[in-house]
Amino acid sequence: FGRTFKLASGAKIPAVGLGTWKSKPGEVQAAVRTALQTGYRHIDCAWIYGNEKEVGLGLKEGGIDRQDLWITSKLWNASHQPKDVRKAITETLSNLNVDYLDLYLMHWPIAFARTPDHANVPKDSNGKVLIDEHLTENHAETWQAMESLVKEGLVKNIGVSNFNIRRLRKLLSEATIKPVVNQVELHPYNPQDNLLRFAEQNGVHLTAYSPLGSTSSPLLKDHVLTSIAEKKSCTVAQILLSWSVQRGTSVIPKSVNAERIKSNFEQISLSQDEFDQINNISRGKQVRYVNPQENWGLDPFEDEETD
Ligand code: A2P
Repeated sequence: FGRTFKLASGAKIPAVGLGTWKSKPGEVQAAVRTALQTGYRHIDCAWIYGNEKEVGLGLKEGGIDRQDLWITSKLWNASHQPKDVRKAITETLSNLNVDYLDLYLMHWPIAFARTPDHANVPKDSNGKVLIDEHLTENHAETWQAMESLVKEGLVKNIGVSNFNIRRLRKLLSEATIKPVVNQVELHPYNPQDNLLRFAEQNGVHLTAYSPLGSTSSPLLKDHVLTSIAEKKSCTVAQILLSWSVQRGTSVIPKSVNAERIKSNFEQISLSQDEFDQINNISRGKQVRYVNPQENWGLDPFEDEETD
């Protein structure tokens, strides 16, 4: 897994990174250190995860030269106002204790309203999340502020996360600096073949989040996957990660367990037949383990384009 994918900007993103969502302060510092000692050079972070300071301590302990690391972070929904973007990244850089990011993503295609207390998830008195409708349907304004960060040298690359085809197409038509990455939920139960095809045709690399199917994943018990894993004497997680990389997406499995961090980094080579078997179980599936509809009262994936 020393392999990388070349982005449209020319930069090379390591195929396997460490995910840090739900990694608790107190656990994540050691996880990052273990990952770097194992050979990982890509760490995926976000401001909203609330653990970037500890990730920064882990990065420091890992002792890897900055230029050999790939660090991604994400702009939170409550900071889409153009004037808030620079402040948001400055905070992330300071938390991580680095001078620049390799990749900064718009975390969701949703702008929350800016409230006087700058709440992370602003709600009205009935508990309904307050959305900034204009910035949610017009990402170009926030995007321009992200483009300025590239010009300033604070980030090397910019991209998006959780964008469907419609939103990605619109942003591509408006952007001066095109998004080079779209980070989305991808695994055999949510392969998003159409999005992958569209992204490939438009110079956008996809990074797979929740490549293992998130917590208590039913994928780990899938009969096709367990039988391939048994035959190859490896773990189902290794099969899932290798399938993702083999189809051209980078992966960011989250773990705070040293053994799992290490084994997730070991590449397994799938035969064409094994690869096809996994493609077969993925066909037509659209199971999302991450969908904030319940909390936010809106479905960011609505009007997904299908065949
Ligand atoms: P843990 O941190 O205790 O290892 P995803 O990246 O798809 O969101 O999955 C993350 C979840 O899968 C976490 O709950 C993580 O728990 C668990 N996990 C990570 N690696 C493995 C593995 N190799 N086998 C089983 N579960 C794993």
